[in-house]
Amino acid sequence: MKDFMHRGGVIPEDAARKQLECIIPVIKEALTQAKVSHADIDSCAVTHSPGLLGSLLVGTTVTRVLGEVWGKPIIPVHHTLGHLTSTWLCSDCHIDPEPVFPVLTLSVSGGHTDLWYRTSHTVGMLIGQTIDDAAGEAFDKGAVLLGLPYPGGPELSKLAKDGNPGAYSFPHPLKHQELNCSFSGLKTSLKYLLQKLQAESDITQQRKADIASSYEHAIVDHLLSRVEHALSLYPDTKEVHCVGGVSANRVLREKCEALCMRENRTFRVPKTLRYCTDNAAMIASAGYYLQKEHPSSLGQLFITSATSDLRRVVRAL
Ligand code: KG4
Ligand code: ZN
Repeated sequence: MKDFMHRGGVIPEDAARKQLECIIPVIKEALTQAKVSHADIDSCAVTHSPGLLGSLLVGTTVTRVLGEVWGKPIIPVHHTLGHLTSTWLCSDCHIDPEPVFPVLTLSVSGGHTDLWYRTSHTVGMLIGQTIDDAAGEAFDKGAVLLGLPYPGGPELSKLAKDGNPGAYSFPHPLKHQELNCSFSGLKTSLKYLLQKLQAESDITQQRKADIASSYEHAIVDHLLSRVEHALSLYPDTKEVHCVGGVSANRVLREKCEALCMRENRTFRVPKTLRYCTDNAAMIASAGYYLQKEHPSSLGQLFITSATSDLRRVVRAL
């Protein structure tokens, strides 16, 4: 992993080359570990968009070849739909009760921050999103300002564990009741706070932990204020789900669960932390539900969206 990553993230060209090298051995290993052969597979799901172009090309090209050689249909999957269906993945094959729709899903990662109102596993409406940085980006940029290594989210959260969340106050972005969010102002106030404190004296480790904790809670509270408002606008919501890399965050999980208890809604997150961050299993999960819910139109699947360019027809490869 290390050779295609640098402090600020992934180098796209190097990542695509590495992926080309690894993709066939990884598929072979996955079949071996699952104790299945290609004859047991119904179809091949592949991330269609969005993402780094080189990586998408490697994935879609290899899948197209596999589909042809193995004689399986190919299911193109939007990356976000993978996150949305990640709460049903399980490593021990223990099956939870099926979710009851409508479901409100907060999908938070390094690339997006979306609020979905979903009427089935694969059909939903995008009702809110970030107007600038994604929540994961706010964690990552905050971590850089605090001098922490990449990826910053888990590092910042680790530092925040021993801090006081009430030590510093951050502005509440987009105060007015709405469903979109904004994180760039939070990051800027963190920058100015650190500059001010550095000018006054050295920042002790305890103070750093207090700042990280206050910043983490500010991000989480902002996200949850949107969820709470969405519940008031969509009162028929039965469940609240939180998915994507940032859903691995302990404070977000705890506060979102508490909110759901107060609001009398079922709360779900991916069952293990590795299903929160990007993973191939969630794309298979989305492929499964697309095949189940749209058996006759696999080449022309819709994810409806009220407010964004996510309104698209996902075309067959
Ligand atoms: O879903 P993901 O793996 O990739 C994207 O689709 O972007 O999300 C990665 C993001 C990164 O910004 C990372 O810092 C953040 O998720 N993240 C966390 C935690 N674990 C991962 N943020 C806060 N707390 C965490 N524990
Ligand atoms: Zn993702």
